[in-house]
Amino acid sequence: MIIVYTSDVSPDRPSRRAVLVLLAVTALSLTLELVFGVFGTVRRDGDGWTARDPVPLPEPREVSELSVEAAIAARRSRRDYADRALERRELGQLLWATQGVTDRRSGYRAAPSAGALYPLEVYVVVGSPGVEGLDSGVYRYRPAAHELDRGSAGDVQPALREAAADQASVEAAAVDIVLFGVDERTTGRYGERGSERYVPMEAGHAGENLCLQAEALGLATVPVGAFGDDRVRDIVGAPADQRPLYVFPVGARP
Ligand SMILES: Cc1cc2nc3c(=O)[nH]c(=O)nc-3n(C[C@H](O)[C@H](O)[C@H](O)COP(=O)(O)O)c2cc1C
Repeated sequence: MIIVYTSDVSPDRPSRRAVLVLLAVTALSLTLELVFGVFGTVRRDGDGWTARDPVPLPEPREVSELSVEAAIAARRSRRDYADRALERRELGQLLWATQGVTDRRSGYRAAPSAGALYPLEVYVVVGSPGVEGLDSGVYRYRPAAHELDRGSAGDVQPALREAAADQASVEAAAVDIVLFGVDERTTGRYGERGSERYVPMEAGHAGENLCLQAEALGLATVPVGAFGDDRVRDIVGAPADQRPLYVFPVGARP
């Protein structure tokens, strides 16, 4: 028996079947990408953060022309920035000073931590012009690998500015480095004292390192504490168990 398949669709228009197949393949691809990340380097951390395509950072330097004393004496809150992108080397150096691993054997970091439990997470909001070779968007620092995980794409600095009492410095900077605390990492051992004291204290340690490193690099930064916590968490895309503690706009000096 010969079955002749006839269709009323003209040969130069895609048949309904072809369109359905295309839609099904697209839906399947999107599902595989979103759920399993099969088409890129996508990692889902235990805390719900989804990261793709890690960005390596240049090795940090450990010498400077500026002494610690000179950096302390010169440090000021600087709220105006030049319209130039940061070099990736500069960003890597700032992140290393904030939370970088300084002892590979033990995993100890640049800033002290109660019980070496390291409850801080460091996010970088890259604006435009932000950092050479990096698209605008949100990134998260991975201290052990000294690299950045890419989060969401797109310039969220205007939204971050609005969340930070409309402070112009937040949008004018090349990047905003945002410190988050994960209380549970510390309260397991230290109870309420961990969340009430130790975690904010650690943000202070890390933040001062960042300020002094910016000074030594000839960059400008200001510690910003005025912002809406929930709004900042949403903008950055941080998991619900993380709370923002400090925002540091950083840029070149005008
Ligand atoms: C916890 C804390 C929160 C701050 N929040 C802001 C802020 O939201 N916006 C701002 O412009 N400066 C902020 N600052 C910076 C202070 O205004 C600044 O440190 C102070 O005026 C002293 O100046 P100096 O940092 O140049 O020594 C904050 C500083 C600290 C320590």
